[in-house]
Amino acid sequence: MVEIQAVRGMNDVLPDEAATWQRVECALLEIFGLYGYREVRFPVLEKTELFSRSIGAETDIVAKEMYTFADRNGDSLTLRPEGTASCVRLGLQHGLFHKHQQRLWYMGPMFRHERPQHGRYRQFHQAGAEAFGWEGPDIDAELIILTARIWRRLGVEGTNLQLNSLGDADTRQAYRKRLVDYLAPLRGELDTDSQRRLHSNPLRILDSKHPGTQAVLAEAPMLRDHLDRASGRHFEELCRCLERCGIEYEINPRLVRGLDYYSRTVFEWVSGELGAQGTVCAGGRYDALVEQLGGRQPVPAAGFAVGLERLVELLTQRGDAVSTQLDVYVVVLGESARSAAMQSAEQLRDRGFRVQQHCGDGGAKSQFKRADKSGAQVAVVLGEEEACTHRATVKPLRRDVPQFSIGQDQLASALSEFFEPKSKGN
Ligand code: HAM
Repeated sequence: MVEIQAVRGMNDVLPDEAATWQRVECALLEIFGLYGYREVRFPVLEKTELFSRSIGAETDIVAKEMYTFADRNGDSLTLRPEGTASCVRLGLQHGLFHKHQQRLWYMGPMFRHERPQHGRYRQFHQAGAEAFGWEGPDIDAELIILTARIWRRLGVEGTNLQLNSLGDADTRQAYRKRLVDYLAPLRGELDTDSQRRLHSNPLRILDSKHPGTQAVLAEAPMLRDHLDRASGRHFEELCRCLERCGIEYEINPRLVRGLDYYSRTVFEWVSGELGAQGTVCAGGRYDALVEQLGGRQPVPAAGFAVGLERLVELLTQRGDAVSTQLDVYVVVLGESARSAAMQSAEQLRDRGFRVQQHCGDGGAKSQFKRADKSGAQVAVVLGEEEACTHRATVKPLRRDVPQFSIGQDQLASALSEFFEPKSKGN
């Protein structure tokens, strides 16, 4: 029979990798808490309309990449390609925005049917933060400063912040026309994707990496030169806050982002160490989205999402992968020692030691080999003699210290003196 493989572009996380994921997730959880963001969880499936109405029907995500299907009732459902739309839906449905400001975060898998390559997957994970109810640039700055703390906490270096402002809706509308007027006569020099976008989503052409298109764009009008005054001031104040907090940035006038809901601030953190898929985190302001999805009042909002695969990759590349080290490997020699060994192992776990007990058959030699391979600091040996005398032998595996014998009831205290347990127990 042919083995069944995972779906293309959807990854397993193996035991050796999971510890690094946990480290990233714990750091994020802690940092979101530091800034007063509270967790929300929403389903992986939503009504398709939620995404087409928010991300935009002409975007790549909605036009080409969504996992959409009719469920048994014939309703069109979609596996969430991102979290912002669901977060807004959740807030509206549960009245969270009614006279309230909200700082929310979420974490979990997202799905896009993109062409899989290194750093780009069909199931990937995001951790996102969304702030609802603040109009000023201070919240934009807070979100960016929070992300900078994530990099610091995890020791990630060399991510560069790119920043731009898309202005208000009128600015974008007017700029769109200016851009199309400029590009239309040069259509033949654009790449095919950009030609297609010329009338459907012309701002996205600014993002094109194609050299011919880039050359055409060199002389194109810049959105920043036509920014409305209020957006200009908003952006200047954001830059001032970032400078004051020591966050370096680069203004990238070509940064427009691939989702339609943005207004004013957009930003991306880009790493040079990830190849073509270097954006580790991206976000911006989306002041019109709540109303667009049925909110009765306008609720200004801003947020970002970090791509967890890319962040884990950065840590792994730096050799920062975390290992799941054990504290104790319990070696069991003889059947009569088994129950005493199980009891001792439980007592050690109560005190916070990470303990793996040898299960099944196996002689002393093979058990010590496994103990060594397990990464444990010590082997605790329980044989028939130890079982009768209520003692255990402690054999240090990583330090050049002789083994010693100890009463089973003193084992945990003796080990605590020997080294710190990895966790708090219970
Ligand atoms: P996005 O730029 O589509 O924005 O995705 C955010 C991040 O998710 C990217 O920078 C990248 O790290 C990661 N990512 C996206 N697609 C993939 C993929 N196929 N494989 C691996 N990683 C990927 C959003 O999703 C917005 N919802 C962000 C936001 C939140 N804006 C405001 N609030």
